[in-house]
Amino acid sequence: MDPQWYQIGYLISATFFIFGLKMLGHPRTAPRGNQMGAIGMLIAVVTVILEIDLIESPILIASGILIGAVIGSWLAIRVEMTGMPELVALFNGFGGAASALVALAEIYSAIESDTIPNGLELHVAWTAIGLSALVGWMTLTGSLVAFAKLKGGFNILGKWRRFPTWGPSWLNPVKAIAVGTALYMIYLSVMAPDDLEVIWALILLSCILGVILVLPIGGADMPVVVSLLNSLSGIAAAFTGFIISNPVLIIAGSLVGASGLILTFIMCKAMNRRLMDVLFKSFGGSEKESVTRTKVGSDPDEVAMILDGAQKVVIVPGYGMAVSQCQHQVKEFADLLSEKFGTEVKYAIHPVAGRMPGHMNVLLAEASVPYDQLIEMDEINPELPEADAAVIIGANDTCNPVARSGEGPLAGMPIIDADLARSVVIIKRSLSVGYAGVDNDLFYMDKTMMLFGDGKKMMTELNTAIKEY
Ligand code: TAP
Repeated sequence: MDPQWYQIGYLISATFFIFGLKMLGHPRTAPRGNQMGAIGMLIAVVTVILEIDLIESPILIASGILIGAVIGSWLAIRVEMTGMPELVALFNGFGGAASALVALAEIYSAIESDTIPNGLELHVAWTAIGLSALVGWMTLTGSLVAFAKLKGGFNILGKWRRFPTWGPSWLNPVKAIAVGTALYMIYLSVMAPDDLEVIWALILLSCILGVILVLPIGGADMPVVVSLLNSLSGIAAAFTGFIISNPVLIIAGSLVGASGLILTFIMCKAMNRRLMDVLFKSFGGSEKESVTRTKVGSDPDEVAMILDGAQKVVIVPGYGMAVSQCQHQVKEFADLLSEKFGTEVKYAIHPVAGRMPGHMNVLLAEASVPYDQLIEMDEINPELPEADAAVIIGANDTCNPVARSGEGPLAGMPIIDADLARSVVIIKRSLSVGYAGVDNDLFYMDKTMMLFGDGKKMMTELNTAIKEY
């Protein structure tokens, strides 16, 4: 076939990626954006298969596709919504490793055949190979550590062991020295292209770098790190695309690299953190504060009475809603309020509520909550002082007033101003802390009513109480 057709195939697939990415920007169009991305990937894979010499290794290629498809589908079907960030972290790592392995294969084939990949200049090819190795292997080990941290720990011989957060201050200069040494190794590999020992030393150092970069980062900063690793996996793919002269890999890698970086900065802004602080100042509270204060719980009938006659109620969903999967009961609650009491109901969406970007939007869309009721934090906050009640369902850090104090792991993080509403109802199982491990004064305020229990159970009881009121 005329090689031009392959380039057209890559161009079509890249177009699908770009439009798919654009559509991911809004919850309404996101499912179709996802499908477009998948179609783009299918076109890219088919084009590659047509372009390469299939006769040489059909079984190898078919087995790779089959194994990848089975593992990918199995993981995607099995994963709980709450486990999505872990899965994304793993996929980032595998993406980085795949790119680095292709780069490694190119080195071996170049040394064996005594040629330079795809007619590139020697120093260009070896610099790209070195950078792909550095970024790719670092992404793999960094993502594995991020996966373990997001999971919280592992069950070893029947005992739960928490994954540690470790980062003494002397580790920062070590990281800087390691990055400098890795770059010097890339330079050495360009000077002595046949020396495989330098490449293997670079791979080892990159793996260590991934671990020491992510290990000190605290729990609350993990979403930023996962997004950054996602960006790095794209950058590694773009380097590899350059080495093997594959335009779709360069385009897709650059898209992932750029969009991951944009998301990283959006999340840093939402948490009021500078990227440098996230990476080099170890805090983020994985150590949980022990709670000593007490608060008497309310019951659903009492809350139903408070909500009777409320003109405006703001629902603040958080991670607990995802855990208890009570989004359908939350929607029923909102419908009941507006039908029975004529209440105006809005949902306050914090950018990092839950455990992944857009987590609350996805869950509430699943329960058919209209998009125009989902209001971003900056827009809803001015409305909260006029709200008769803020009903917080499984949220904690994202409405913890301590964030305004400038102290501790949540310092400076913008929050939903739920404490400014006339009354506050909080549904959660106990007084325990949220992800960042910080106690929340909001629980103890006079205007706050605590409904202690699992989200789904309490929402069902509250709905029954409103129906019977
Ligand atoms: P969190 O601060 O994590 O608090 C969630 C609360 O839900 C907990 O205090 C827990 O209290 C409660 N809960 C758990 N299971 C429940 C259940 N079955 N029923 C009712 N309540 C339940 O949640 P948030 O306000 O959404 O804040 C998110 C935090 O996660 C932030 O610190 C953010 O930085 C971090 N984070 C975000 C992301 C992204 S990208 N969204 C990713 C990783 C981490 P009880 O145990 O007392 O029930």
